[in-house]
Amino acid sequence: MAPRDMSHEPSGTPDPVEKGFATLSSLRVGVKAFVEKDGEKRKAEILSIQHRQGNPRFYVHYEEFNKRLDEWIAADRIDLSREVEWPAPEKPKKVAANKQASKADTSKAQKMHKRPRSKLDREISATPEVLSGGVPGKRQQLSQEHDVTVVSTELADGETPRPDDDEMDLVDVQDAAAAAKAVPSEIYSREDEIEKLRTSGSMTQNQTEISRVRNLDRVQMGQHEIEPWYFSPYPVEFSETDMVYVCEFCLCYFGEQKQFERHRTKCDLYHPPGNEIYRDDYVSFFEIDGRRQRTWCRNLCLLSKLFLDHKTLYYDVDPFLFYCMCTRDEHGCHLVGYFSKEKESAEGYNVACILTLPQYQRKGFGKLLIAFSYELSKREGKLGSPEKPLSDLGLLGYRAYWQEVIVDLLMEPGRTEGNIEELGALTAMTTNDVLHTLQNLNMLRYTSKNQHIIVLTDAVIEQRNKQKEKERLKGKRSIDSERLQWKPPVFTASSRTWNW
Ligand code: ACO
Ligand code: ZN
Repeated sequence: MAPRDMSHEPSGTPDPVEKGFATLSSLRVGVKAFVEKDGEKRKAEILSIQHRQGNPRFYVHYEEFNKRLDEWIAADRIDLSREVEWPAPEKPKKVAANKQASKADTSKAQKMHKRPRSKLDREISATPEVLSGGVPGKRQQLSQEHDVTVVSTELADGETPRPDDDEMDLVDVQDAAAAAKAVPSEIYSREDEIEKLRTSGSMTQNQTEISRVRNLDRVQMGQHEIEPWYFSPYPVEFSETDMVYVCEFCLCYFGEQKQFERHRTKCDLYHPPGNEIYRDDYVSFFEIDGRRQRTWCRNLCLLSKLFLDHKTLYYDVDPFLFYCMCTRDEHGCHLVGYFSKEKESAEGYNVACILTLPQYQRKGFGKLLIAFSYELSKREGKLGSPEKPLSDLGLLGYRAYWQEVIVDLLMEPGRTEGNIEELGALTAMTTNDVLHTLQNLNMLRYTSKNQHIIVLTDAVIEQRNKQKEKERLKGKRSIDSERLQWKPPVFTASSRTWNW
């Protein structure tokens, strides 16, 4: 996607921005300057500055780019021939001086810059269909429609099945009545959506967070070396070490290899400290109570914060259950990913945070985690939805799951009818999520009687068949509900949260 040259655009900020030329020595935290990235000049904010052997290095965040791409750069990448924006003096940006954020040298900065976590941005530019389930962004013409699958709830006059505004953050919330009349151009601009995904990434950046600078260089866990994406409040001295060692079973962390090795000789945990509630030939799920396994769960939250930017839960783990997915081998049960779930969610969320550890991402585990969360909801006899806001990757993962599940249901042989409530009941998905998914897939039509009709378009069918072919070749994993040995746990008010 072509970067926008912000210098020719009016500033979006209401306050006038003070501009001027800077020198290397006048650059300070909060300044926005043009920085060379991948052969282009991009506007970036300086979040931290370090001096090493007399040479300054700058930790920068590229405006409009996902925070995962923040990096340390050398001074020569900053374009001082162009004016910079000075931070407003009366409202200084809250940027913690994370003095020892990292001691990486330039070569490391380059390596970071190349790491695969920039993949999402590239993939989105390359294959924007991912955002609309592979269905081309343009709305399908009615003539392309296939099987009219069918009728749904009648809407009372003036009533619109409008999803909650905060429900699906990246979806342009659509008024059903307007959708009914929508010209077959576009229900929302796909470009807008891609743009939002590309830029915001993690929706609610917590500006008051102690640090916006990634503090760990590398983490070793089991057989894997992982490069963190975001800040996580591990002990400050860890930002001084090249490698942090995390015991893959108890999730305890060490700044020194010797200490870690000593720990490994003593550690007797071989699986997450809870009940195994699901096992098939591929994975196991363990249920862990945050209150009973406070340290383990806090360790898990610390670890997952390295890859989750928009949620900050570290210490108050008591109100949550953690569903941890592992693969098994002769050495034990290896954590692949997990989701946390409130013991009681007032909003009806069935997932609080969800994570596939980076070494296992993009292999279908995320879909398994999501599928499992909906199996639990089915057992509870409830409809569920993930806690908002979703991250960029969270949204992609959920959309992919929702689309697949709904389209598969509608494509079941013999099915001629379907309505939103029924689809929700069968999948444990909320009506809002079903509705959004159908809208995204351009599968909703409205009749003059203000009824909506679900239409399975040729494009959707074709897309799903292609996907199924891939699944057939790669082997698709799914959750077998019969193997779930679980009853919804019941908690007394006092055992839900802190109870020393
Ligand atoms: N780029 C494009 N599409 C993607 C990407 C990506 N990088 N990652 C996932 N998807 C989409 C694809 O459609 C993919 O299906 P495909 O591989 O067949 O094309 C689909 O999501 C599912 O992919 P999985 O391999 O099943 O998912 P994964 O194991 O990678 O886990 C998850 C997804 C959990 C969101 C993972 O990316 C992650 O842990 N991210 C970091 C933490 C995070 O952001 N969590 C969600 C926060 S929101 C919340 O907690 C409620
Ligand atoms: Zn251990």
